[in-house]
This record gives sequence, structure tokens and C-alpha cells, in this order.
Amino acid sequence: MSKVTVVGAGNVGATCANVLVTQSIADEVVLIDIKEGLAEGKAMDIMQTANILGLNSRLTGVTNDYEKTAGSDMVVITSGIPRKPGMTREELIGVNAGIVKSVTESVLKYSPNAIILCVSNPMDTMTYLIHKISGLPKNRIIGMGGALDSARFKYFLSLALGANATEVEGIVIGGHGDTTMIPLVRYAAYRGVPATSYLPAEQLEKVAADTMVGGATLTKLLGTSAWMAPGAAAAQVVSAVLHDSHKLISCSALLDGEYGEKDLCIGVPCILGRNGIEKIVEFELTDAEKALFAASAQAVHKTNSALSC
Ligand code: NAI
Ligand code: 2OP
Repeated sequence: MSKVTVVGAGNVGATCANVLVTQSIADEVVLIDIKEGLAEGKAMDIMQTANILGLNSRLTGVTNDYEKTAGSDMVVITSGIPRKPGMTREELIGVNAGIVKSVTESVLKYSPNAIILCVSNPMDTMTYLIHKISGLPKNRIIGMGGALDSARFKYFLSLALGANATEVEGIVIGGHGDTTMIPLVRYAAYRGVPATSYLPAEQLEKVAADTMVGGATLTKLLGTSAWMAPGAAAAQVVSAVLHDSHKLISCSALLDGEYGEKDLCIGVPCILGRNGIEKIVEFELTDAEKALFAASAQAVHKTNSALSC
């Protein structure tokens, strides 16, 4: 029996919970929110698809009652405010740091062995904050950003290639920010063949640029930040951990010398399994890619410096 708590029943949290139960990723899911009735309502709405979709997983919603989350194997933190058009993820730090701190303390009180997946923005900094306040071993704290950015990269690549998105490979590392993420164009591939052999450099540059502003583009269109792909990407990470899949997914992880950086959380290729981050994989990077990674790390350090912990 696996149990997952999703904190925040807003757009991303409810979508993540929906994917967790409709794809049978977890046996039991608890959706929790501070807003009276919201999690109960979202959970009830989702569970009313149970007969239609043939669901076997159970989802319940609760208002701020952390006792109901007890014994969770994994906790997904989506609570906080999302960006509005024109805002960067980094501008959310003040409000979201307070929320992420109190939520982390509450969930760990009832689920001391849980693996935590942080989604709230600015995600790399919030993931780092969870490390600082919880003292948990570094494998048990994962940040979700690279899974989403890589999915967007593969989406834009599939459009450029005229290919099925499931047959396209691509990974984004670095910070989860419009200017800090690094789509690794050199490693993008279509059925194992480098994308560079199908597409001219200018077209690949546009794919990378569209990926980097992927979140901002949607925020402008929707009036708030996206939730379908973010919720599904969070559920993908949960699935990789709960099913001990050892899949390689780009996640924000605490570095201790990997990629030449330490004391920050940033997107790197991770092997995920039942212990959370089983391994950080160090891709061979060119000097130019190394320079981009170093600049991205510097930007994340700068955002981290606004934390009061
Ligand atoms: P939303 O506003 O729809 O939902 C946030 C929910 O958090 C609200 O229902 C609110 O009541 C709840 N909340 C606030 N304080 C709480 C507390 N102390 N305890 C429990 N619940 C609390 O926002 P949305 O769109 O779901 O985004 C959530 C967060 O995820 C934002 O910070 C957003 O920037 C971030 N995000 C991160 C992505 C990533 O790739 N890492 C992608 C998309 C969004
Ligand atoms: C996104 O990338 C805003 O982090 C959010 O859609």
C-alpha cells in the first residue's frame, strides 16, 4: 500500500492528485489545503470519476488536518502563490518561503519517513529551504522543475521534427527559471539519432528558446501559471520513486561537488527510486555548457541568499 499527500489543492496540486489516482500511481492520496472545503471539493469531484474511469485508488480531501496525512510515503508540496503575467518565479519567494516552511514542519510531524517533492516556486530555492529546515538526508528531498522543462523541450522538439512526442529524447538541466534553465540541445534525439542531424542550428535554438520561456508563455495566455503539465510532471516523479523505477529524470537536487557546485539545489539528471534520489548522473558537458551551468548556479545562489534561514 502506498500513500501520498499532496499539499495545496489548487491548480497544480489537484491535477497531480488526479493523475496519481487516474493512473493508479498511488493506492491512497490525501489532498490537503488551508482553504476551507477546497481539498474536500476537489477530491470529491475527482472521485466521482471513479466509476466512469474504473479507479481503484482512493483520494480524500482535508482542510489543514495533518493527522490525516500520517504515514505518507511521499509528500508533494504545491502550496503557495503562483506567478501572474509579468512576474518571475523568483518574485514569489517571500510569501512562499513562509508557507513551505510551516507545511514541511506539519507533514514531517506525521510522516517522518516521507520523501518530499517540492513544486512551489521559486522551486530550487524552496527545495534548498526544505533541506535547511528539515535536516533530512539529501536523497529524500527532490525538487520538480526539470521534469516539466524537459517535457516542454520534448514537446517543442516534436513539433519541429513533426514527430510523436513519445519518440523524442531531451533533457533540461540547471535552475527552473526562464533564464537559468539549460535545454541540452546536443543530447536531444529522435529515436536515438541526434536531433542536430535532422534540424538546422537556428531551428534548434528556437526550440531551446521556446522551452525556456515555456512557463511565461502559458502564464500570459492563461492569466496564471500552467497546471496540467506541472501536475503530471510531479506525478511522474512520484511514480518513479514509489515504483522504484530507477528512471533518469531531471530534478532539483542538493549538490555536493557534482557539476562543480555545492550547497545549492539545482536541476541535474537523477536516477529515482524508492530511496528518492538514488544517484546524480554527471553528463559530460562542453566548456560552453559548463559555463551556462555555472551561471545558472550563481543565479540560484543569489535567489537563495534572500532566504532568512
Ligand atoms: P494555486 O493558487 O492554484 O494553488 C495553491 C494552493 O495552495 C491554494 O489552493 C492555496 O489555498 C494553497 N495554500 C496556500 N497556503 C497554504 C498552506 N499554508 N497550507 C496548505 N495549502 C496552502 O497555485 P498553483 O497554480 O497550484 O501553483 C502552486 C505553486 O506551484 C506555485 O508556487 C507555482 O508557482 C508553483 N509551480 C511550480 C511549477 C514547477 O515546475 N516547479 C510549475 C507550476 C507551478
Ligand atoms: C511553470 O514553469 C510557473 O514554474 C511554473 O509553469
